[in-house]
Amino acid sequence: MNKLLLSLLLILGISSTTQAADAVKGDPAAGQAKTAVCGACHGPDGNSMAPNFPKLAGQGPRYLLKQLHEIKDGKRVVLEMTGLLNNLNEQDLADIAAYFASQKGSVGAADPNLVARGEALFRGGKLDQGMPACTGCHSPNGAGNAAAGFPHLGGQHADYVKKQLTAFREGERTNDGDTMVMRSIASKLSNKDIDALSAYIQGLH
Ligand code: HEC
Ligand code: HEC
Repeated sequence: MNKLLLSLLLILGISSTTQAADAVKGDPAAGQAKTAVCGACHGPDGNSMAPNFPKLAGQGPRYLLKQLHEIKDGKRVVLEMTGLLNNLNEQDLADIAAYFASQKGSVGAADPNLVARGEALFRGGKLDQGMPACTGCHSPNGAGNAAAGFPHLGGQHADYVKKQLTAFREGERTNDGDTMVMRSIASKLSNKDIDALSAYIQGLH
């Protein structure tokens, strides 16, 4: 009886926490006013000019919010952003995520020498090695799946994508959850595969 009560209380506790988290709704206009410091690296509208700073424009809000929490907590290490998020509360983070999500992402040019190999890997995976195609989660046009928190990749800087895929492969980026989805996929990619995928993704839309 006591055990049953305890588990009921736990369930109620968990569901009310979930509701509380969902209740923080991001406001894009309020978010814009909070992103002055971010624009220096990521671009005022989230389309960064520097290839090592990721574009945030058009990224899914759920993915953005997850990264913001994890960068703030140090679960994902971004030295350039050390301390920058410390004074931002839950509402600030939700507003910032909503602002960048509402912007239109720009698309770059793909290196024509690498595109064919990149496209084959992105669309076909490496079935002989059990590596699924990227399209299943990141969608055929690279738009991702905002509701599921699968990031938008299309148009992202090749240098940034290359750094992330290498970091997942080498176990330097570990915030892809207990299923280690991106670490296990990247473990099947050679340096040449990563160059090709990154080039293809930069021009994908
Ligand atoms: C000094 C430059 C700099 C500033 C200022 C900065 N960032 Fe970043 N940010 C970076 C870099 C570099 C990365 C990627 C690090 C890596 O390679 O993993 C990053 C990554 C991110 C990511 C993860 C993107 C992704 O696709 O996973 C988010 C979200 C983000 N920044 C949001 C912000 C916000 C919001 C602000 C302002 C409060 C901000 N950044 C300010 C340099 C900066
Ligand atoms: C089963 C689903 C799944 C598949 C298949 C998949 N991904 Fe991912 N990918 C994810 C998830 C989920 C994340 C976000 C991890 C996190 O929350 O930090 C991610 C993150 C990424 C990122 C980092 C994005 C950023 O802005 O930092 C890149 C780059 C990426 N994936 C590329 C690929 C490529 C290339 C392939 C195919 C070779 C691929 N993914 C296949 C689910 C998947």
